[in-house]
Amino acid sequence: MDQHATDLLTDWAALRSGIPPVWARYTDLVVERASGSWIETIDGGRFLDYTSGIGVTNTGHAHPRVVASIGEQAERGIHLQQNIVYHQPGLELHRRLPQRFPNPRSGTEYGLFLANSGAEAVEAAMKLAKVATRRTAFIAFRGGFHGRTHAAMSLTSSSARYRTHFDPLLSGVHFVPYPYPLRMGGRDASLATTMAAIDELFATVVAPDDVAAFVVEPILGEGGYVVPPDGFLPAVREVADRYGILLAVDEVQSGYARTGRFFATEWTDAAPDIVIMAKGIASGLPLSGILAPRTLLDQLSPGSHGGTYGGNAVACAAALATLDVIDDERLAERAERIGERMLTELRRAALDHAHVAEVRGRGLMLAIEFADGGALTPRPDLAKGLLVEAMARNVLLLTCGTYGQAVRIIPPLVTTDDEVDMALGVITESLAAIGA
Ligand SMILES: Cc1ncc(COP(=O)(O)O)c(C=O)c1O
Repeated sequence: MDQHATDLLTDWAALRSGIPPVWARYTDLVVERASGSWIETIDGGRFLDYTSGIGVTNTGHAHPRVVASIGEQAERGIHLQQNIVYHQPGLELHRRLPQRFPNPRSGTEYGLFLANSGAEAVEAAMKLAKVATRRTAFIAFRGGFHGRTHAAMSLTSSSARYRTHFDPLLSGVHFVPYPYPLRMGGRDASLATTMAAIDELFATVVAPDDVAAFVVEPILGEGGYVVPPDGFLPAVREVADRYGILLAVDEVQSGYARTGRFFATEWTDAAPDIVIMAKGIASGLPLSGILAPRTLLDQLSPGSHGGTYGGNAVACAAALATLDVIDDERLAERAERIGERMLTELRRAALDHAHVAEVRGRGLMLAIEFADGGALTPRPDLAKGLLVEAMARNVLLLTCGTYGQAVRIIPPLVTTDDEVDMALGVITESLAAIGA
């Protein structure tokens, strides 16, 4: 039976209604296939995917080298369990990935622990920090998103929706403001506010020597694609050093060449203790991990952490191919170059739009925030309107920000100049259509 005949016999609406509502969904699209920057639907639609599956398909959908690598490994074994045997792609990934540690300290050997999802990697980082410091408290940043398992959710504050009715969460998690230049009086003032809040926290609520780690996104993701002042991570590093606190950077969304560096932390000179990775790591296969100095990582004793699927062989093969593609196609440089162009052109396009409060971003992690007046009242309606108009013109985008007031633009890093032209044209038209 050909695809058309199958579609006629399939009631897609009925099948869709079988999915529980917990999977909040941006579109009703049913995908036929996806490759590069494009998604094709069963009814013949074609969409430029500037969501990258929430920042995952940095190498594009179904990159031929990633697909080949997955196929080759699948034929040689799919589940080669980490507690039982060693598999070749896993061994190779444990050799190669630690070499990417951002701002490494000289003479330090780094290691890798693999899991499946971003939240799981956050859990691993938290357990490692607790074991290594014998401390139990954490400092996280308002607007941060670190996942939806219980401990990761305890660090998450990008929206109350992720926490509502789920108490009790982990005790000992303390929040300070993330430096948000637009909403906190500019770059210097925002940094000063954040650092003062840390001091105040230590003076009022928690003793620094009870704190195991700071967990921080180098660029705020779900919370609004907020680029902090460059001095932010180094300033947090300094406080961490002063009190023997670990610094864990959550690079789940900002990593893997997305911002024009392999890790966004590399835009600064701060040396983290733990790097949390997922999303782009295996071009869409479920894989995540943490990087840390071996002296730290090895403090997780045998069996104290792990999981049946962690470091799956096929996912590791995809991860190796992903590293090759990022290097050979120079995707970090590409993200930086295309990102600069898009930022400039989006800022120009936004000039005539009074409700665009800011166009910001780094590399291909870009956002347009909508707000009203001096009080910067969030305008999620305009952000949503832009998504609807862009989708009507065959470009897929996402929102972000606590109020859903920003539109994020997350192209695959392999996107072509023609595709960028198209997206810029569509966003410009969509801004006009929503009367922003
Ligand atoms: C910065 C950050 N950390 C952690 C996570 C959680 O990852 P996952 O959804 O794979 O659990 C996300 C997901 O969006 C994220 O953006």
